Amino acid sequence: MVDHDGNQVTDKDFRGKFMLIYFGFTRCPDVCPEELDKMADLIEIVKKVSGDIMTPIFITCDPWRDTPERVKEYLAEFHNEIIGITGSYENIKKVCKTYRVYFSTPPNVDPNKDDYLVDHSLFMYLMDPQGEFVEVFGKNATAEEIALRICDNASKYNSLKT
Ligand code: NI
Repeated sequence: MVDHDGNQVTDKDFRGKFMLIYFGFTRCPDVCPEELDKMADLIEIVKKVSGDIMTPIFITCDPWRDTPERVKEYLAEFHNEIIGITGSYENIKKVCKTYRVYFSTPPNVDPNKDDYLVDHSLFMYLMDPQGEFVEVFGKNATAEEIALRICDNASKYNSLKT
């Protein structure tokens, strides 16, 4: 896997903070922009309430077309703290499988010529600082609701640690 600056990363690089993961693709006509706007809003709420406890992550389901540069440029429109992740077709497919995200990118397309849509799940996945799954938020949850759940989970997590 590669982040939007071209660095090789694995999920272990993100230990120590909660991760909020969203799967999408930069050419998505409507849902991804809405969800990323929501992510940008909730990032600010979480920071205000609980401080620097979370890494927001966008993983592309369209590795053919979403290069690190493309992902970086795209995410800059939403929030400068969202980390974009892309990678090889096989690696992206594997990650989607891990999170049970439906992966529909066709295996044999010409990214320069073919115009295709990518179906993807509409969930945000919350993982704790050790990388364990905490909970999932659907499209109907508001930025406020998600942010408060995250802050709540963070204080629970911290009270168990101390
Ligand atoms: Ni989308």
